[in-house]
Amino acid sequence: MLELTVVDRNGAEHLIVSEDGRTLMEALRELDFGVLAICGGVRSCATCHVYVPHEWMTRLPAQHADEYALIRELAHYQDNSRLSCQIELTRTLNGLRVTIAPDE
Ligand code: FES
Repeated sequence: MLELTVVDRNGAEHLIVSEDGRTLMEALRELDFGVLAICGGVRSCATCHVYVPHEWMTRLPAQHADEYALIRELAHYQDNSRLSCQIELTRTLNGLRVTIAPDE
């Protein structure tokens, strides 16, 4: 189990507890924060877009080329953007803080 801080689209912070071994998208999708994850995690919808603090970026799994290409086309792209479906939750990510990006 690990603890995450999630900032929703209204700017409210939520401390959540999640199992490790699944993706961040799966943890967010079951909550009521508007993460639709329409494609189910195959890097084609970007409805799981989040922002990650820069200091955490190097601790995340490397970006697949498909994620790299898709995320740079988003209207709300930032240099700390990631697709949460590509982030497997491991104990090393305990304490991670993510912000859910605006709807495209
Ligand atoms: S769930 Fe579709 S890109 Fe992540």
